[in-house]
This record gives sequence, structure tokens and C-alpha cells, in this order.
Amino acid sequence: MHVDQRRSKWRTALIATVLGAGLITAPQATAQPTAQIDDGLALTPPMGFNNWNSTHCRADFNEAMVKGIADIFVDKGLKDAGYQYVNIDDCWALPERAADGNLVPHPVRFPNGIKAVADYVHGKGLKFGIYTSAGTKTCNKDGGFPGGLGHEEQDAKLFASWGIDYLKYDNCNNQGVDAKMRYTKMRDALKATGRPIVFSLCEWGQNKPWEWAKDVGHLWRTTGDIGDNWNSMVSIAKRNMVLAEYAGPGHWNDPDMLEVGNGGMTDVEYKSHFGLWAIMAAPLLIGADLRKVKPEMFEILGNKDVIAVDQDKLGVQGKAIRTEGGMYVFVKPLTNGDKAVLLFNENDSGAQISTTAEEIGLPKSFAYTVRDLWAKTTTHSAGSISAALPPHGSAMFRVSASNDWYSYPPAVTAGADAAVLYPGAMPLVTPGKPVTYTTTVSNTGRLPIFHTQAKLTVPDGWTVTPKSSPTKLILSGEKQFQTTWEVLVPATAKPGRFPVGATFTYTSPSSTTPVSTSYQTEAVVPGAAPVGVKFLSDHSWLRASNGHGPVEIDTTNGEAGARDGGTISIRGQKFTKGLGTHAPAHIEYYAGGDCTQVTATIGIQDNKVNPLSLVTYEVWGDNKKAYDSGPVTGQDAAKQLTADVTGATVVRLIITDGGNGKSYDHANWGDLKITCK
Ligand code: GLA
Repeated sequence: MHVDQRRSKWRTALIATVLGAGLITAPQATAQPTAQIDDGLALTPPMGFNNWNSTHCRADFNEAMVKGIADIFVDKGLKDAGYQYVNIDDCWALPERAADGNLVPHPVRFPNGIKAVADYVHGKGLKFGIYTSAGTKTCNKDGGFPGGLGHEEQDAKLFASWGIDYLKYDNCNNQGVDAKMRYTKMRDALKATGRPIVFSLCEWGQNKPWEWAKDVGHLWRTTGDIGDNWNSMVSIAKRNMVLAEYAGPGHWNDPDMLEVGNGGMTDVEYKSHFGLWAIMAAPLLIGADLRKVKPEMFEILGNKDVIAVDQDKLGVQGKAIRTEGGMYVFVKPLTNGDKAVLLFNENDSGAQISTTAEEIGLPKSFAYTVRDLWAKTTTHSAGSISAALPPHGSAMFRVSASNDWYSYPPAVTAGADAAVLYPGAMPLVTPGKPVTYTTTVSNTGRLPIFHTQAKLTVPDGWTVTPKSSPTKLILSGEKQFQTTWEVLVPATAKPGRFPVGATFTYTSPSSTTPVSTSYQTEAVVPGAAPVGVKFLSDHSWLRASNGHGPVEIDTTNGEAGARDGGTISIRGQKFTKGLGTHAPAHIEYYAGGDCTQVTATIGIQDNKVNPLSLVTYEVWGDNKKAYDSGPVTGQDAAKQLTADVTGATVVRLIITDGGNGKSYDHANWGDLKITCK
């Protein structure tokens, strides 16, 4: 979905025509949901597949793909793991209805029609889903195919005759008709077919469906579209996580389909994505073409322990009980009294995150068993649940109060990190300068571990010297053991990211075989800081993330690919230099302590102004805020920004969504300059 494409150009004309032709009733007529949806469907979050995230409308979205996915669901054990619905998205139809008003399947993509594909999927013991929009047209950029608004009954009947089991109902070209009314009409039309059909509201959270859609659909999107990148995934998770109280059996918050396997995130990031969706009891709709993904992706998507957390019958969406500094503790109560815990590190630096059995609400016990849902190990703990997490990493556990804890080895976490400038900062190191790393081994069990040994490994040409002992004979329960290391980065080190690793061995009381664990993090050598007065758009950033598409250099942001935005223009003032961003954005430049000031002309891009355009601009020098614009809307005149960043190692430019979601937030930084020595 490209938010700006949803503007209905012909809106006024169409409302008149559609209402005039009596195709849709006036909003006030049936604005209130009339009946409960309570039909025993989707008692756990739906699991399956949808093609959109991998193909959009490309030609490889076709019958062969759908059949291929159904085959893989069976052959690779995903069906056994719980995946059930094989769903098709936008672009399955022709742009015009047939003479009888029915939708027509695209003859090249689906030469045998939709029913044939549905039959094939059903033949595999799976279910089949389809898509249309609660508007006059769907969302596809090229104009869309006919939507369901005003055709609810006819389309629902057609879908039922094809054997559809799931309908995703989108929001584009909705002609401004009341959302509750549009979705309720389709709910009733589906119900009238007599076929059990899961009803998925894809309304992007615009009208707070969590407040009214419990009786309308089985799930509702809470956000705009997910993108296959870290920033998008995390921003969506954050919006969805605060809505936990609204979810339950038969009515789920939907933070959009999975990106696992599409290639835009690392394996560590995809595990965090999958874990976040599972702890939030989100629908698990695989969005990758399983015919092409790496084998490791099946290990993530097929992890039955993680899936069991998502699918737990109690149906409670896990809550984030702690969220400070990009370090999250999520807890989800489970049917048998266990608690599922997700420890999640949003930051670009490693982090040790801990909680306790008490904090997650388990009854008092002498010890607990802790099942690591990724490592597949079970250990015991005196009460602390903790993990040493790499950047963007997460750990997921199932924790139980236990009487037979002593049959399991003590839970041990081990990690390594250097100090960073502020929580979440990049782990920067300077060529020619020493940097101190600390390795930490924590035994959170009741029993001791023996012969603990830590080792830090650095890139070739770097040196590492332990400044305290790296070995410990006995590490008692509930104790930590730390070693400090001096790492010298050679003066000749080139800018880049370098792996820093740590390995640990120890022996558990119940075994003579040493246990080894490892931890991987990285060090970043920045490029040179700017010299004199420079356009920041001429300088490479350390890192950048953006709400839609990439941060654009010297053009505005066009939402999708690079350089698709055009000239930066704020209230008629044009800029040939600057950055084009879209909320939420975060860009960092290395300033090396040698710069004093950042200046720019800021404002929303002229041709993207919408009543929803609302952002704030911030400039930070390390962990000190140097500028805050307050709310900036599309109506505001261009503003002059001046920020004092004297002495900062890193200059950070931040765009927030202003608190109203990230739609239409094209935030420009015209003539963005930095003054340095
Ligand atoms: C919207 C939806 C997406 C997808 C596309 C199809 O953007 O939010 O999930 O269905 O439409 O055009």
C-alpha cells in the first residue's frame, strides 16, 4: 500500500454516482454493527500464506505459485505446524466486471479460474483465501480491480461458490463511506452465504477498528503496510503492542503479514520479527515465496515451540511490561499456567536484558524451568530470566514454576560488549585508540557451574589483552563473572563493520562434558567527519532508516524505490540540496567531536500535503537533544532549523510521526548543512 495512492481522485464524482445509482446505502442507515460475529472461527490467530509481500502484482503471482505453496505447506511440514490458509491478494482479477456484474479472474495468472485453485488447495487439506477492497477499486497502483463496495452480496456469493474460506477486505477507494458500515455490510453478506469465512479487515487502523470490529471481523489490521526492512517491522510492532487488551479468541490485532524469508532482514532480525508476532498473538501469514527461500527460513517459520505461543488457546496477546532504552520484556500468559517471555533488543548495540519470575507474574517457587524456544534447551533458574542479545536480537522462553528443576542444568547467559555513547548507539571504535570490552557470564541457577572460561575474538590485525582473569573455577548460583579486555584497533583500520565475538565454556553440575556458548557482536569504524561547512547530503551517513523507501539525497521521498521523489519543495520554496525523509526516520552522521552547528529549512513536501501530515523534527548531538520543532503539519510555513551540536561524536536527525501514525509524513530537510572545523 502506498498511502498516497489511496487518495481518491474521483471521490466526489464517484460518491455521487454510486449513491445516485442506489449501489450503496447512505452511511447513517446501518452505521452500527447489527449482529455478533461469534461463529467459532479464528479461535486462535489465523496461520497461512499470502503472496502480497513477495510478489505484489508481478507476473509470478499466478496459479503455479499458489499450488506450489500448498505443496510446500504439506511437504515441508508447515501444514502439520499449523499453517492452514493459502490466500491470494490484489491483482487476481481483471479490471472490469463481466456483463452479469461478476468479478473475472485474470486469464493469464489464473487460466483455470479461481475455483480450480481453491479445489487444489482444498485437496491438500488446506483452506483458501481471497482479497478485495471495501471501496470501488482495490489498491493496486495501476488503478486496481473492481472493489466490493455496493457489490457486497454478489461478490460474497461468488466467493462462496468458489469455496473461499477467508476474505481480506481492504480499504482503498472507499469514497469516504463510514468504515464500520462498509465492513459490516460485507460481514453480513458473507454470513448470508452460509459458508464459514474468516473475515479480515484491512483498514490499516485508520478508524481504530480495535474499538468496534470485534463483532465485525475476526482480525483487523492495526497499521499501514509492513516493508521487508528492520525499521518498518519494528515500528509496526510498536504500534501493535499497545493494543493487547483488544485481542482475544475470534478477534485479533493484525500487524500485517510476515516478511520472514523475503531477504531484506538478517536471520537474527527475522527471528525477532517472528518472535514478536508470536508473543503478540498475531496472525502468522507467511509472506515469502517458499519455493525460493533459504532453508534456514523453514527453521524459523516452522518453529513449533514459538508457534505454540502464538496459538495458545487462552488467546491473550502478550504485553510489553518493560520498554526502556530499546530493550523490551514481553510476557504472554499460557493456558497451562506457564508464561512465554520475549526479551527483545531493538538497538544496534548488544544488550543484556533480564526479568524475573516475579515480574512476569509466576507464583513463588524455589526455582523455575526455562525452556529456550530457539536453542531448544531447558535449564533451571532461581528466578532471573535473562539473555545476552546481539544487536536486533531476541530470546524467547517458556517459563514454569517447577518441582523438578534440579533435573536441569543452571541457566547461564554470556555476552560481550563495549560502552556506547547512549543506549542504542552504534558500537563505534576509533582507529589507533584502545577500547574496553567486558565479557559477562551470569549463572542464574540455584547450583554452581565450574571451570568457566571466556575468550574474546577480534578481527585480524587488532589486538586483545585480558585486563582481569578470564577463568573462574566455581561460579555459584545467582552470581556473575566479568572479565575486562583491552582491544586495540590498528591506526590503519579502514571504515567498516567488523565482527567481534566471544566464546565461553563451563561445566554444569550434572555433566562432565563442557558446555560452550558463543556471542557475536560488531565494532564500527566510522569514515572521516565533515570538514568546514558542508551539505550533509554530500556526506555519507553512518546509518539511516526511513518510514517508506530509502532516505533520499537531494530529492524528496517518493515512498518506494530510490530517487522516486522529485524536487524538494516546501510552501513553494524549491531546494536542490537536502534530504527527503518519511516518518519515522532516523539518520546518523559521524561528527568526531569537531562540529558545532546543523542548519536546514524544514517542512512537509508540497505535493504530499494531507490533513494527516504531521511530524516532529529533532536533532541530537550524541545523547543530548539540540533541537525539537514541535508539531509540523502540511499547513505550516517552512521553518528555519538551527541546532547546536558542539563536541558531538554523532549527529542524529530524527523524524517522528507526531503521534498520529505515519501516513502522508513526507518530511524535507532543505539545504541541510553542518558546520565543522
Ligand atoms: C493495501 C494492503 C496491502 C495489500 C495491497 C494490495 O496496501 O494494505 O496489504 O493488500 O493493498 O494492493
